[in-house]
Amino acid sequence: MDKNKKYEFDTISIHAGKKGKNPDNALNPPIFQTSTFVFDNIQHVKDVMSFKSEDYVYTRGNNPTLRLFENRMAALEEGEGAVAFASGMAAISSTLFCLLKPGDNVIVNRTLYGSTYNVVTKILSQYHVNYKVIDLTKAELLEEALDKNTKVIYFETPSNPNLDIIDIKRITSIAKEKGIKVVVDNTFATPYFQRPLNLGADVVVHSATKYICGHGDVLGGVAVARDLNFIQKLKFDYMCEFGGVLSPFDAWLLLRGLKTLGVRMRQHEQNALQVAKFLQRHPQVKKVMYPGLEDFPGHNIAQEQMRGYGAMLSFEIEGDPQKAVKVVDNVDLIQLAVSLGDCETLIEIPAEMTHMGYPKEKLAEFGLTESMIRLSVGLESANDIISDLDEALARI
Ligand SMILES: Cc1ncc(COP(=O)(O)O)c(C=O)c1O
Repeated sequence: MDKNKKYEFDTISIHAGKKGKNPDNALNPPIFQTSTFVFDNIQHVKDVMSFKSEDYVYTRGNNPTLRLFENRMAALEEGEGAVAFASGMAAISSTLFCLLKPGDNVIVNRTLYGSTYNVVTKILSQYHVNYKVIDLTKAELLEEALDKNTKVIYFETPSNPNLDIIDIKRITSIAKEKGIKVVVDNTFATPYFQRPLNLGADVVVHSATKYICGHGDVLGGVAVARDLNFIQKLKFDYMCEFGGVLSPFDAWLLLRGLKTLGVRMRQHEQNALQVAKFLQRHPQVKKVMYPGLEDFPGHNIAQEQMRGYGAMLSFEIEGDPQKAVKVVDNVDLIQLAVSLGDCETLIEIPAEMTHMGYPKEKLAEFGLTESMIRLSVGLESANDIISDLDEALARI
């Protein structure tokens, strides 16, 4: 790539981060399937250990295949550096441990992926990190919740599973004045639709298992930031020492997934909009949560801060919650499964599956009812996805 040229997303996702030619002129980079690296002599050891040289020591610290993935993710999120992890949860928990210490406060949005909610409410609290769960779609509530110990604000936008849209610019402008770090989980939107660092966020985290991989065959995570001191600390004090390292083969598969991220996201979104409109018209459906629908509460903010609305949506079935069970039990093409972002359309009931760790009263308070169904709209033909849903809805 020409350093003086500005490339667009689909080009960056295929080429960014390459350093010259691959060995033997291979089109694709090799997988550096090695745990350790060899030094020329003790001076070489000293240079690498003191970061004078960018060579490698041991894959738990770094590896060329991981570095290429990290550089490509940093380019896509418009960050300065990235750290790859063995899973999204490894990225999220390491980032939170890196930014917080005993006595600090973290403020999180009311809805989060279930394991993230558990890390904040059950694990960090054991280390005397306090937390407040608030509705960050109402930015005015943030001012009230802040105190002198607040060090981190953490949220997903769109959030899992109810697609809360949080105004990143507004939250970060409040946080910046007080030196508070803002961490955004960008898993649902991907950098194709949203770049939180450009809107003021300090750190972006991803479950790379989802759209970045795109094929449901890898577990991975990544954190991206502009502050290289933070990246260095996260990498060597947390990723490397906690040991949640991504495998070189999985990094290579994620690089392969990234090549088609833009193409996939465009098609995912087109399908999702058609499915959302179909559900909105259906008499058995009480409510559809999809940021691309004009009457969705977060639609206007989504329109401003995203360049598309993604392909995750949730909907509530009218009446008895058993009807929601019937829908997910009766789909045929659509698969009953957790996770998201795959080619296959996946369906689940968050209250019974991904969010079962939330206390029952909190599920009700945050609107995650037993009648709520989450859909990760895949890449099958939209007509076939709709027909499958139509048949399942007809059976209730
Ligand atoms: C929004 C979000 N963040 C993080 C995670 C955790 O990612 P992983 O399963 O890769 O650890 C998930 C998993 O579903 C998720 O949906």
